[in-house]
Amino acid sequence: LITAGPTYEAIDPVRFIGNHSSGKMGFALAEEAAKKGANVTLISGPTALKIQNPNIEFHGVTSAREMFDEVFKHYYAADIAIMSAAVADYTPKIVAPEKIKKNEEEFSIQLVKNPDILKTMGEKKTHQFLVGFALETQNEEENAKGKLNRKNLDMIVLNSLRDSGAGFRGDTNKIKIITQTEQKEFSLKTKEEVAKDILDFINDKLPQNL
Ligand code: PMT
Repeated sequence: LITAGPTYEAIDPVRFIGNHSSGKMGFALAEEAAKKGANVTLISGPTALKIQNPNIEFHGVTSAREMFDEVFKHYYAADIAIMSAAVADYTPKIVAPEKIKKNEEEFSIQLVKNPDILKTMGEKKTHQFLVGFALETQNEEENAKGKLNRKNLDMIVLNSLRDSGAGFRGDTNKIKIITQTEQKEFSLKTKEEVAKDILDFINDKLPQNL
């Protein structure tokens, strides 16, 4: 089970709160996992990308709430879950039914917290090998380790916007994999190569029968 892309949180029928995720990292993970023979379910927020491998089961979603619901339709049947989506932490409390007019000089939107999909997966973990991503801009390792522990993950993939060529949109990424007992840093590579590194690392940790 893999998630990819951004989520869009509606403000009104024409506007949303989103982020810069293109889906490339998650799609690369899905393609590489399918190439290795895995039965892949890919759940993605809005993206221009198309899956290539016909063995990938694809589910498109828009908001964090929709991603949450779709993830939990598939989570219990999954052996490995890799959450590379950039999920919005907050969503507008009220979605305006009509386009908001620009009458005011200042305008505020009240936001409420979205469910944390990955944290809920950590709480409900049965047999799954659960992998999160951490996108950081400062105190990278400390923040990633905090997420590893708080969300009850088996491993976390850290990428930092301070590394050029890493993170959103581009075709490359630079990652550090962190578990409770190990840390492994990788050089800047294409997202396909990064996906291979992540899957090889996971494969080494799994019981032989998977
Ligand atoms: O799509 P690309 O353009 O290729 O970019 C790839 C990427 C930068 C989006 C990707 O490599 C990445 O870092 N994804 C995680 C982005 C993120 O939201 O990180 P975070 O540190 O805010 O979240 C930590 C983890 O919790 C993530 O696994 C996220 O999926 C999950 N999360 C976060 C919030 C929330 N409400 N629910 C979640 O499940």
